[in-house]
Amino acid sequence: MLSGGSGTRLWPMSRPERPKQLLSLTAEETMLQLTARRASGDRFTPPIIVANAFHADLVEEQLALVDQGVKALILEPIGRNTAPAIALAAMAAGGGSEPILVMPSDHVISDVTAFHAAIEAALPLVNEGWLVTFGITPDSPEIGYGWIKIGEEQLAPGVFRVDRFVEKPPRDRAEAMLASGDHAWNGGIFLFRADMYLGTLSVFAPEMLVAAQQSMDRARREGTRIFPDAESFAACPADSIDYAVMEKAPRVAVVPVSMGWSDVGSWDALHAISNPDEGGNVVRGDVVAIEARNCLVQSEPGKRVALVGVQDLIVVASGADVLVLPRGRSQEVKKLIDAMQG
Ligand code: GDD
Ligand code: MG
Repeated sequence: MLSGGSGTRLWPMSRPERPKQLLSLTAEETMLQLTARRASGDRFTPPIIVANAFHADLVEEQLALVDQGVKALILEPIGRNTAPAIALAAMAAGGGSEPILVMPSDHVISDVTAFHAAIEAALPLVNEGWLVTFGITPDSPEIGYGWIKIGEEQLAPGVFRVDRFVEKPPRDRAEAMLASGDHAWNGGIFLFRADMYLGTLSVFAPEMLVAAQQSMDRARREGTRIFPDAESFAACPADSIDYAVMEKAPRVAVVPVSMGWSDVGSWDALHAISNPDEGGNVVRGDVVAIEARNCLVQSEPGKRVALVGVQDLIVVASGADVLVLPRGRSQEVKKLIDAMQG
């Protein structure tokens, strides 16, 4: 489970000290806890978490409530993007032929049965050495996701060769891919053998593999906590699994799946996946609304938000901050943060 993101687009709830994956946004439980639950039960071993060292206590506290234990909590001294983080996890898993499922810990999957079925469909090829990604059936021309062109060759029931990856395309390209019917969103969820992932790194990103290995060889360990050596890890080139591995590896497959997936990348995305009340409002916390329609209102304990006669607003109150903006513009929160940082 990857838990290193900072999730700035969900400010002011999401902050560096408590980013999106450590928040309860869609349910009582946090995104991290919900992710851990998705991979519990007989077919899974306890998870390996890769998180920023700064969040160690929060991550541990939250996972203790999920009750399935943790195999290892790898605490990165700095973020080096997803490819090195997954390398650390593959090493902590033993680096052998056991399949590992890589999941961002800040996504929503509402149809877990479909997710598990997709994993089952992928496993025979994974055991043969393929790197597998899950391709989400797209319903809009998203430019914030990676896209996958699904190849014609069916490798196993429900599993296809990847034709190509297109990371974060411009709008016109995304529209064309949506219309084509043979493209999927890259859900950022992967399944492969640990040895196959590390072997692919040895070919396409050898410096990354060496630095990650050294940081683990020199790691400090305290119970399930693993602190990779900071100096060795700092030498690791930063890159995503998409660029460093998936786009280059020769045997990459995709399982197209519809599973109610969202990466909850903005307040608008949260509104879109939530069940609104009869006024169209999605409300969490102490909120009083009179004649408000189609709003998203979030407030943390101890803060009351009161609305009269407004519509299509996003209102979020957290800490010393209140965010107000029209629905449809929540991608601009990032701009706000840049402006506030001056
Ligand atoms: N431990 C750790 N360390 N986790 C990290 C790090 C890191 O340095 N960097 C990112 N992560 C985690 C994030 O918390 C997130 O859960 C996941 O890895 C993906 O990283 P993002 O930074 O959110 O990637 P993205 O949104 O730009 O793009 C990826 O995800 C999209 C789907 O949400 C790509 O895989 C896209 O192709 C994909 O569509
Ligand atoms: Mg993301």
